[in-house]
Amino acid sequence: MFENLKAQPADAILRLISEYQNDTRPKKIDLGVGVYRNAKGETPILASVKKAEKMILEEQDTKTYLGSGGDPVFNELMQGLIFGAKNANHERIVTLHTPGGSGALCVAAALVMRARRDVTLWVPDPTWANHVPLLGGAGLTLKAYPYYDAKSKTVRFADMLQTLGSVAAGDLVLLHGCCHNPTGMDLDRRQWQQLATLISERRLVPFVDIAYLGLAEGLEQDAWPVRLLFDAVPEMIVAASCSKNFALYRDRIGSLSVIGRDRDARDILRSQAHNIVRTMYSMPPDHGAAIVRRILANAALRKEWEGEVDAMRDRLKAMRRLLVDALAVSAKGHDFSHIRRANGLFSFLGISEAQVDRLKRDYGVYMVGSSRINVAGVTADNVAYLAESIAAVL
Ligand code: LMR
Repeated sequence: MFENLKAQPADAILRLISEYQNDTRPKKIDLGVGVYRNAKGETPILASVKKAEKMILEEQDTKTYLGSGGDPVFNELMQGLIFGAKNANHERIVTLHTPGGSGALCVAAALVMRARRDVTLWVPDPTWANHVPLLGGAGLTLKAYPYYDAKSKTVRFADMLQTLGSVAAGDLVLLHGCCHNPTGMDLDRRQWQQLATLISERRLVPFVDIAYLGLAEGLEQDAWPVRLLFDAVPEMIVAASCSKNFALYRDRIGSLSVIGRDRDARDILRSQAHNIVRTMYSMPPDHGAAIVRRILANAALRKEWEGEVDAMRDRLKAMRRLLVDALAVSAKGHDFSHIRRANGLFSFLGISEAQVDRLKRDYGVYMVGSSRINVAGVTADNVAYLAESIAAVL
Protein backbone atom coordinates (compact mmCIF):
# COMPACT_ATOMS: atom_id res chain seq x y z
CA MET A 1 0.00 0.00 0.00
CA PHE A 2 2.80 2.47 0.72
CA GLU A 3 4.40 2.13 -2.70
CA ASN A 4 2.38 5.14 -3.87
CA LEU A 5 4.06 7.46 -1.41
CA LYS A 6 6.91 9.73 -2.42
CA ALA A 7 9.54 11.12 -0.06
CA GLN A 8 8.79 14.59 1.28
CA PRO A 9 11.43 17.34 1.32
CA ALA A 10 12.73 18.02 4.84
CA ASP A 11 11.20 21.07 6.54
CA ALA A 12 13.39 24.07 5.70
CA ILE A 13 13.58 25.36 9.29
CA LEU A 14 13.95 22.03 11.10
CA ARG A 15 16.57 20.81 8.61
CA LEU A 16 18.87 23.63 9.74
CA ILE A 17 19.00 22.16 13.26
CA SER A 18 20.75 18.97 12.14
CA GLU A 19 22.85 20.73 9.48
CA TYR A 20 24.19 23.05 12.15
CA GLN A 21 24.77 20.21 14.63
CA ASN A 22 26.75 18.25 12.04
CA ASP A 23 29.00 21.23 11.20
CA THR A 24 32.33 20.85 13.03
CA ARG A 25 33.67 24.37 12.36
CA PRO A 26 34.33 26.09 15.71
CA LYS A 27 33.17 29.51 14.49
CA LYS A 28 29.78 28.28 13.21
CA ILE A 29 26.77 30.44 14.11
CA ASP A 30 23.15 29.30 14.33
CA LEU A 31 20.62 31.96 13.30
CA GLY A 32 18.11 29.34 12.15
CA VAL A 33 15.27 27.86 14.16
CA GLY A 34 13.32 30.22 16.41
CA VAL A 35 14.59 29.41 19.87
CA TYR A 36 15.87 31.98 22.34
CA ARG A 37 19.56 31.79 23.26
CA ASN A 38 21.44 33.50 26.08
CA ALA A 39 24.82 35.26 25.91
CA LYS A 40 26.55 31.85 25.96
CA GLY A 41 24.49 30.64 23.01
CA GLU A 42 22.50 28.27 25.24
CA THR A 43 18.76 27.71 25.62
CA PRO A 44 18.54 26.89 29.32
CA ILE A 45 15.46 25.83 31.27
CA LEU A 46 14.08 28.93 33.03
CA ALA A 47 14.66 29.10 36.81
CA SER A 48 10.91 29.60 37.32
CA VAL A 49 10.25 26.46 35.26
CA LYS A 50 12.75 24.42 37.29
CA LYS A 51 11.02 25.50 40.50
CA ALA A 52 7.60 24.68 39.10
CA GLU A 53 8.84 21.24 38.03
CA LYS A 54 10.12 20.61 41.54
CA MET A 55 6.70 21.52 42.90
CA ILE A 56 5.07 19.12 40.45
CA LEU A 57 7.42 16.32 41.49
CA GLU A 58 6.53 16.84 45.12
CA GLU A 59 2.84 17.72 44.88
CA GLN A 60 1.38 15.90 41.91
CA ASP A 61 -0.50 12.87 43.16
CA THR A 62 -2.22 11.55 40.04
CA LYS A 63 -1.68 11.29 36.32
CA THR A 64 -5.23 10.32 35.52
CA TYR A 65 -6.89 11.73 32.38
CA LEU A 66 -7.76 15.42 32.22
CA GLY A 67 -10.22 15.46 29.29
CA SER A 68 -10.06 16.93 25.81
CA GLY A 69 -9.91 20.57 26.94
CA GLY A 70 -6.89 19.86 29.12
CA ASP A 71 -6.27 21.56 32.46
CA PRO A 72 -9.12 24.00 33.25
CA VAL A 73 -6.98 26.03 35.66
CA PHE A 74 -4.26 26.45 33.02
CA ASN A 75 -6.96 27.48 30.54
CA GLU A 76 -8.33 30.16 32.86
CA LEU A 77 -4.85 31.50 33.62
CA MET A 78 -3.96 31.65 29.92
CA GLN A 79 -7.23 33.46 29.26
CA GLY A 80 -6.18 36.06 31.82
CA LEU A 81 -2.66 36.34 30.39
CA ILE A 82 -3.92 36.89 26.85
CA PHE A 83 -7.21 38.73 27.30
CA GLY A 84 -6.43 40.54 30.56
CA ALA A 85 -7.09 39.60 34.19
CA LYS A 86 -10.68 40.92 34.04
CA ASN A 87 -11.46 38.49 31.20
CA ALA A 88 -9.89 35.38 32.79
CA ASN A 89 -13.26 33.68 32.85
CA HIS A 90 -15.14 35.53 30.16
CA GLU A 91 -18.49 34.11 29.06
CA ARG A 92 -17.67 34.50 25.35
CA ILE A 93 -14.26 32.80 25.42
CA VAL A 94 -13.49 29.10 25.49
CA THR A 95 -9.82 28.19 25.97
CA LEU A 96 -8.29 24.74 25.51
CA HIS A 97 -4.82 23.67 26.34
CA THR A 98 -3.17 22.27 23.22
CA PRO A 99 0.04 20.51 22.18
CA GLY A 100 1.99 23.68 21.34
CA GLY A 101 0.81 26.60 19.25
CA SER A 102 0.76 24.27 16.24
CA GLY A 103 -1.77 22.04 18.02
CA ALA A 104 -3.92 25.12 18.55
CA LEU A 105 -3.70 25.96 14.83
CA CYS A 106 -4.72 22.39 13.88
CA VAL A 107 -7.78 22.39 16.15
CA ALA A 108 -8.74 25.89 14.98
CA ALA A 109 -8.49 24.84 11.34
CA ALA A 110 -10.66 21.78 11.96
CA LEU A 111 -13.22 23.96 13.75
CA VAL A 112 -13.35 26.42 10.84
CA MET A 113 -13.74 23.52 8.39
CA ARG A 114 -16.75 22.29 10.35
CA ALA A 115 -18.28 25.76 10.58
CA ARG A 116 -17.68 27.12 7.06
CA ARG A 117 -15.78 25.09 4.48
CA ASP A 118 -16.17 27.85 1.88
CA VAL A 119 -14.43 30.53 3.91
CA THR A 120 -11.07 32.02 2.82
CA LEU A 121 -8.26 32.53 5.30
CA TRP A 122 -6.14 35.57 4.36
CA VAL A 123 -2.54 35.12 5.44
CA PRO A 124 0.22 37.73 5.47
CA ASP A 125 2.85 37.62 2.74
CA PRO A 126 5.24 36.50 4.11
CA THR A 127 4.19 34.40 7.08
CA TRP A 128 5.64 31.59 9.24
CA ALA A 129 6.82 28.90 6.81
CA ASN A 130 4.56 26.28 8.40
CA HIS A 131 1.35 28.33 8.37
CA VAL A 132 0.45 27.55 4.78
CA PRO A 133 1.29 23.81 4.88
CA LEU A 134 -0.44 23.34 8.23
CA LEU A 135 -3.59 25.40 7.66
CA GLY A 136 -3.84 24.64 3.94
CA GLY A 137 -3.20 20.97 4.68
CA ALA A 138 -6.17 21.02 7.04
CA GLY A 139 -8.34 21.95 4.06
CA LEU A 140 -8.67 25.71 4.45
CA THR A 141 -8.59 27.90 1.34
CA LEU A 142 -5.74 30.35 1.77
CA LYS A 143 -5.02 33.61 0.00
CA ALA A 144 -2.25 36.10 0.73
CA TYR A 145 -2.49 39.75 1.66
CA PRO A 146 0.55 42.04 1.28
CA TYR A 147 2.48 42.54 4.50
CA TYR A 148 6.16 43.32 4.01
CA ASP A 149 8.00 45.38 1.43
CA ALA A 150 11.47 43.88 0.95
CA LYS A 151 12.76 47.06 -0.71
CA SER A 152 11.80 49.65 1.90
CA LYS A 153 11.90 47.04 4.69
CA THR A 154 8.60 48.27 6.11
CA VAL A 155 5.07 46.94 6.58
CA ARG A 156 2.89 47.48 3.49
CA PHE A 157 0.10 48.79 5.67
CA ALA A 158 -1.82 50.72 2.99
CA ASP A 159 -1.72 47.70 0.63
CA MET A 160 -2.74 45.41 3.45
CA LEU A 161 -5.77 47.58 4.26
CA GLN A 162 -6.68 47.85 0.60
CA THR A 163 -6.67 44.07 0.10
CA LEU A 164 -8.49 43.30 3.33
CA GLY A 165 -10.96 46.07 2.56
CA SER A 166 -12.25 44.16 -0.45
CA VAL A 167 -12.46 40.58 0.85
CA ALA A 168 -15.78 38.85 1.49
CA ALA A 169 -17.58 39.37 4.80
CA GLY A 170 -17.01 36.40 7.07
CA ASP A 171 -13.53 35.67 5.73
CA LEU A 172 -10.77 34.99 8.25
CA VAL A 173 -7.63 37.11 8.60
CA LEU A 174 -4.50 35.55 10.04
CA LEU A 175 -2.57 38.09 12.11
CA HIS A 176 0.64 37.71 14.08
CA GLY A 177 -0.15 39.15 17.52
CA CYS A 178 3.43 40.40 17.95
CA CYS A 179 6.98 39.65 16.74
CA HIS A 180 5.87 38.88 13.19
CA ASN A 181 7.57 35.72 11.93
CA PRO A 182 9.66 35.99 9.71
CA THR A 183 10.03 39.79 9.40
CA GLY A 184 9.93 40.97 13.04
CA MET A 185 7.98 44.00 11.78
CA ASP A 186 4.77 44.67 13.73
CA LEU A 187 1.96 47.17 13.29
CA ASP A 188 2.01 50.15 15.62
CA ARG A 189 -0.97 50.91 17.85
CA ARG A 190 -2.52 53.39 15.47
CA GLN A 191 -2.33 50.83 12.66
CA TRP A 192 -3.85 48.10 14.86
CA GLN A 193 -6.72 50.48 15.62
CA GLN A 194 -7.31 51.18 11.93
CA LEU A 195 -7.15 47.47 11.20
CA ALA A 196 -9.57 46.62 14.01
CA THR A 197 -12.03 49.17 12.63
CA LEU A 198 -11.75 47.69 9.13
CA ILE A 199 -12.14 44.13 10.42
CA SER A 200 -15.20 45.09 12.42
CA GLU A 201 -16.81 47.14 9.61
CA ARG A 202 -16.22 44.45 6.99
CA ARG A 203 -17.31 41.71 9.41
CA LEU A 204 -14.08 39.73 9.05
CA VAL A 205 -12.99 37.20 11.65
CA PRO A 206 -9.53 37.73 13.16
CA PHE A 207 -7.42 34.62 13.63
CA VAL A 208 -4.47 35.73 15.77
CA ASP A 209 -1.37 33.60 16.18
CA ILE A 210 0.56 34.89 19.17
CA ALA A 211 3.62 32.69 19.60
CA TYR A 212 5.99 35.29 21.06
CA LEU A 213 3.91 37.05 23.74
CA GLY A 214 6.21 39.17 25.91
CA LEU A 215 9.17 39.27 23.56
CA ALA A 216 8.29 42.49 21.69
CA GLU A 217 7.53 45.18 24.29
CA GLY A 218 6.21 43.32 27.33
CA LEU A 219 3.54 40.81 28.35
CA GLU A 220 0.76 43.38 28.74
CA GLN A 221 1.82 45.55 25.79
CA ASP A 222 2.08 42.59 23.41
CA ALA A 223 -1.38 41.33 24.35
CA TRP A 224 -2.92 44.74 23.62
CA PRO A 225 -3.79 44.06 19.92
CA VAL A 226 -5.59 40.84 20.90
CA ARG A 227 -7.58 42.71 23.54
CA LEU A 228 -8.37 45.51 21.10
CA LEU A 229 -9.74 43.01 18.57
CA PHE A 230 -11.62 41.11 21.25
CA ASP A 231 -13.49 44.30 22.17
CA ALA A 232 -14.16 45.08 18.49
CA VAL A 233 -15.55 41.85 17.03
CA PRO A 234 -18.15 39.21 17.90
CA GLU A 235 -16.08 36.20 16.80
CA MET A 236 -12.37 35.51 16.86
CA ILE A 237 -9.70 32.80 17.17
CA VAL A 238 -6.45 33.10 19.14
CA ALA A 239 -3.68 30.49 19.02
CA ALA A 240 -0.95 31.01 21.63
CA SER A 241 2.30 29.24 22.38
CA CYS A 242 4.27 28.79 25.59
CA SER A 243 7.29 27.49 23.65
CA LYS A 244 9.18 30.78 23.58
CA ASN A 245 8.10 32.84 26.59
CA PHE A 246 8.31 29.86 28.96
CA ALA A 247 11.14 28.21 26.93
CA LEU A 248 9.10 24.98 27.00
CA TYR A 249 9.74 24.17 23.34
CA ARG A 250 9.85 20.38 23.49
CA ASP A 251 7.14 20.08 26.13
CA ARG A 252 4.64 21.24 23.50
CA ILE A 253 2.30 23.56 25.33
CA GLY A 254 0.04 26.20 23.88
CA SER A 255 -3.58 27.26 23.99
CA LEU A 256 -6.47 27.82 21.66
CA SER A 257 -9.08 30.43 22.52
CA VAL A 258 -12.23 30.74 20.46
CA ILE A 259 -14.61 33.64 20.96
CA GLY A 260 -18.31 33.31 20.26
CA ARG A 261 -21.07 35.89 20.14
CA ASP A 262 -22.45 35.00 23.57
CA ARG A 263 -22.40 32.34 26.26
CA ASP A 264 -24.54 29.90 24.26
CA ALA A 265 -22.28 30.23 21.22
CA ARG A 266 -19.26 29.72 23.48
CA ASP A 267 -20.78 26.50 24.87
CA ILE A 268 -21.32 25.15 21.36
CA LEU A 269 -17.76 26.11 20.40
CA ARG A 270 -16.45 24.32 23.47
CA SER A 271 -18.34 21.13 22.68
CA GLN A 272 -17.17 21.24 19.05
CA ALA A 273 -13.54 21.89 19.97
CA HIS A 274 -13.58 19.09 22.55
CA ASN A 275 -15.08 16.75 19.99
CA ILE A 276 -12.38 17.69 17.45
CA VAL A 277 -9.64 17.05 20.00
CA ARG A 278 -11.20 13.75 21.05
CA THR A 279 -11.20 12.54 17.45
CA MET A 280 -7.74 13.99 16.68
CA TYR A 281 -5.47 13.22 19.66
CA SER A 282 -8.03 12.64 22.41
CA MET A 283 -6.45 14.99 24.94
CA PRO A 284 -3.32 17.11 25.35
CA PRO A 285 -0.20 16.08 27.31
CA ASP A 286 -0.16 17.69 30.76
CA HIS A 287 3.41 18.41 31.82
CA GLY A 288 3.88 21.79 30.11
CA ALA A 289 0.47 22.99 31.27
CA ALA A 290 1.24 21.85 34.83
CA ILE A 291 4.39 24.00 34.78
CA VAL A 292 2.73 27.09 33.32
CA ARG A 293 -0.21 26.73 35.69
CA ARG A 294 2.08 26.68 38.71
CA ILE A 295 4.04 29.69 37.51
CA LEU A 296 1.02 31.83 36.67
CA ALA A 297 -0.88 30.89 39.83
CA ASN A 298 1.96 31.59 42.25
CA ALA A 299 2.71 35.30 42.79
CA ALA A 300 6.42 34.84 43.55
CA LEU A 301 7.03 32.41 40.70
CA ARG A 302 5.06 34.58 38.30
CA LYS A 303 7.15 37.61 39.21
CA GLU A 304 10.33 35.61 38.68
CA TRP A 305 9.09 34.39 35.30
CA GLU A 306 8.10 37.93 34.24
CA GLY A 307 11.65 38.99 35.06
CA GLU A 308 13.00 36.16 32.92
CA VAL A 309 10.81 37.24 29.99
CA ASP A 310 12.04 40.84 30.46
CA ALA A 311 15.65 39.60 30.37
CA MET A 312 15.05 37.65 27.14
CA ARG A 313 13.44 40.66 25.50
CA ASP A 314 16.20 43.03 26.66
CA ARG A 315 18.89 40.73 25.29
CA LEU A 316 17.13 40.43 21.94
CA LYS A 317 17.00 44.23 21.66
CA ALA A 318 20.65 44.53 22.70
CA MET A 319 21.73 41.95 20.12
CA ARG A 320 19.83 43.83 17.41
CA ARG A 321 21.77 46.99 18.29
CA LEU A 322 25.06 45.11 18.45
CA LEU A 323 24.57 43.50 15.04
CA VAL A 324 23.45 46.71 13.32
CA ASP A 325 26.47 48.55 14.75
CA ALA A 326 28.86 45.76 13.68
CA LEU A 327 27.37 45.71 10.18
CA ALA A 328 27.73 49.49 9.91
CA VAL A 329 31.48 48.93 10.35
CA SER A 330 31.92 45.75 8.26
CA ALA A 331 29.41 46.40 5.48
CA LYS A 332 29.81 50.11 4.80
CA GLY A 333 27.34 51.48 2.28
CA HIS A 334 24.68 48.88 3.17
CA ASP A 335 21.79 49.80 5.42
CA PHE A 336 20.73 47.20 7.98
CA SER A 337 19.08 49.64 10.38
CA HIS A 338 15.68 47.94 9.87
CA ILE A 339 16.95 45.09 12.10
CA ARG A 340 16.83 47.51 15.00
CA ARG A 341 13.21 48.44 14.29
CA ALA A 342 11.99 44.82 14.40
CA ASN A 343 10.62 42.87 17.39
CA GLY A 344 11.25 39.46 18.86
CA LEU A 345 13.56 36.84 17.41
CA PHE A 346 13.47 37.48 13.70
CA SER A 347 14.46 39.88 10.93
CA PHE A 348 15.08 39.51 7.26
CA LEU A 349 18.68 40.26 6.43
CA GLY A 350 17.51 41.09 2.90
CA ILE A 351 20.12 39.06 0.99
CA SER A 352 19.62 36.51 -1.78
CA GLU A 353 19.25 32.75 -1.34
CA ALA A 354 22.63 32.30 -3.08
CA GLN A 355 24.22 34.61 -0.49
CA VAL A 356 22.51 32.66 2.31
CA ASP A 357 24.00 29.46 0.85
CA ARG A 358 27.47 31.01 0.69
CA LEU A 359 27.24 32.10 4.31
CA LYS A 360 26.47 28.53 5.29
CA ARG A 361 29.01 26.87 3.01
CA ASP A 362 31.96 29.23 3.39
CA TYR A 363 31.45 30.71 6.86
CA GLY A 364 29.31 28.25 8.85
CA VAL A 365 26.59 30.88 9.35
CA TYR A 366 23.15 29.25 9.29
CA MET A 367 19.84 30.98 8.53
CA VAL A 368 16.59 30.22 6.69
CA GLY A 369 16.80 30.53 2.87
CA SER A 370 14.61 33.65 2.91
CA SER A 371 17.51 35.29 4.85
CA ARG A 372 15.47 35.25 8.06
CA ILE A 373 17.87 35.49 10.98
CA ASN A 374 17.20 34.67 14.62
CA VAL A 375 18.94 37.51 16.45
CA ALA A 376 19.14 35.40 19.62
CA GLY A 377 22.02 33.59 17.91
CA VAL A 378 24.11 36.78 18.01
CA THR A 379 26.57 37.15 20.91
CA ALA A 380 29.20 39.70 21.89
CA ASP A 381 31.77 37.02 20.98
CA ASN A 382 30.49 36.12 17.51
CA VAL A 383 29.11 39.44 16.24
CA ALA A 384 32.32 40.67 14.59
CA TYR A 385 32.83 37.39 12.72
CA LEU A 386 29.14 37.37 11.78
CA ALA A 387 29.19 40.92 10.43
CA GLU A 388 32.42 40.27 8.48
CA SER A 389 30.97 37.06 7.01
CA ILE A 390 27.81 38.86 5.91
CA ALA A 391 29.86 41.70 4.42
CA ALA A 392 31.97 39.16 2.52
CA VAL A 393 28.96 37.77 0.63
CA LEU A 394 27.30 41.08 -0.21
C1 LMR B 1 10.50 29.12 13.82
O1 LMR B 1 9.81 29.79 13.05
O2 LMR B 1 11.70 28.93 13.66
C2 LMR B 1 9.85 28.52 15.04
O3 LMR B 1 8.52 28.87 15.11
C3 LMR B 1 10.07 27.06 15.13
C4 LMR B 1 9.28 26.29 14.13
O4 LMR B 1 8.61 25.33 14.55
O5 LMR B 1 9.34 26.58 12.94
